[in-house]
Amino acid sequence: MAETVAASTVGHDELAALKRIALDGGLTGRPKLSCSGLAERLDTSAQTASRRLQRLEDGGLLDREVLADGQRVSVTQAGEAALRREYASYRRLFEDGDTLSLDGTVTSGMGEGKHYISLSGYMSQFRERLGYEPYPGTLNVELTAESVRERGALETADIDATPIDGWEDDDRTFGSATCYAARVEAGSESYDGAHIIVPDRTHHDATQLELIAPVKLRGELGLSDGDTLTVHLEAR
Ligand code: CDP
Repeated sequence: MAETVAASTVGHDELAALKRIALDGGLTGRPKLSCSGLAERLDTSAQTASRRLQRLEDGGLLDREVLADGQRVSVTQAGEAALRREYASYRRLFEDGDTLSLDGTVTSGMGEGKHYISLSGYMSQFRERLGYEPYPGTLNVELTAESVRERGALETADIDATPIDGWEDDDRTFGSATCYAARVEAGSESYDGAHIIVPDRTHHDATQLELIAPVKLRGELGLSDGDTLTVHLEAR
């Protein structure tokens, strides 16, 4: 919810102030700051600098403690996530081979992933086409609003995609799906060699992603529900 509030009040100027605070140590500590000092570095008035800090605080991106002679500030988890999104978009501009990055948080599903991934009709194709037997299950990722919009590019961008065919047994049919090669980044940890699996009947603006991998990603990356991560898609 904090993110919705932030979106309406926090713009590029506020993010520039947040970046300045992060460069001054606000990601790992609580640097002491005066509005006039910040104003000077941002080339603006103290009043404007103060308003930007207020908006960052209102948006949940900054924690502030007001002192007699200034304030102590620290970037919140939501603030760090906002800076990471900026970082990801710059990286997309200037780095080769990383065509799309999607941000989201870890969630729990209803245990359906385990059932589907384990079915032999799918498992044999994973072995042959992806080259591994997935850990039985899918890691569900709830995408940010921006990434929900961006995921539309999955189908159109030049991304490494592997088709998984539909099949049937005596009782029913099982739908086809597409797997996209992905690197999963969470904090300072990263796992290369996972896939996003998208059932072909999924709506293109679905808010959740499902990841499969040869390993249990929660264990590998130390993930719990609510943790943020970035899924980097690879170019073909
Ligand atoms: O209950 P849910 O639908 O979220 O999970 P599942 O698909 O049955 O998968 C079992 C558990 O393993 C869940 O906690 C998943 O988040 C996790 N998982 C994982 O950490 N790494 C994978 N490659 C697949 C699943």
